[in-house]
Amino acid sequence: MSKVGVGVLASGRGSNFEALVRATRKDIPDAEVRVLVCNVPDALALRRAEADDIPHLVVNHKKFDSRKAFEEEVVKELNRHDVRLVCLAGFMRILSPYFVHHYESRIMNIHPSLLPAFAGLQGMQVHRAVLESGAKITGCTVHFVTDDVDAGPIVVQRAIQVREDDTPDSLAVRVLLEEHQAYARAVKLYAENRLQVEGRRVRVLGE
Ligand code: GRF
Repeated sequence: MSKVGVGVLASGRGSNFEALVRATRKDIPDAEVRVLVCNVPDALALRRAEADDIPHLVVNHKKFDSRKAFEEEVVKELNRHDVRLVCLAGFMRILSPYFVHHYESRIMNIHPSLLPAFAGLQGMQVHRAVLESGAKITGCTVHFVTDDVDAGPIVVQRAIQVREDDTPDSLAVRVLLEEHQAYARAVKLYAENRLQVEGRRVRVLGE
């Protein structure tokens, strides 16, 4: 059977992208990261892709007249690289229904909280809000992307304890390690054809 082609969309650091490259090469024989698309020309993720020998390119949203035109270009590039599964990894653009429906149940995102808690926040905002809330547990969520931000069916979650001396930075470091594991697991399950979406719920077959 042919491998599942994975395309990653990122805007920044790219640690999740790199974790996916490593995981697929080592542990996920059924999947292969085929391309990285960045909307930000100097994203660190691009340099990681270069070092890891993964095709990479910039589709700069600022150069397009409309969101649709930008997204059509991204779709064109993903098709050119034979991508079936799209993984958003620190991609800082909201995708329109055109793109989301094009990849229905084939597009995942990673969020640095245990959704549905702390949805709609980004980056360090999430970890600050977790500490302010007094929550004792936080973590990360990989979910399918739908039209509503951070609200799609949940694929994988990993939790950590919030410690007494945690700061937003220290939480971010520990959650990020979990993110890398969670995303690899989600892609592995997808590649093994073990995810079945039923409404808001994702059943994991063979658990
Ligand atoms: C991660 O914390 C992810 O949850 C969020 O953006 C961050 C991206 O980090 N969506 P990186 O670029 O993968 O290192």
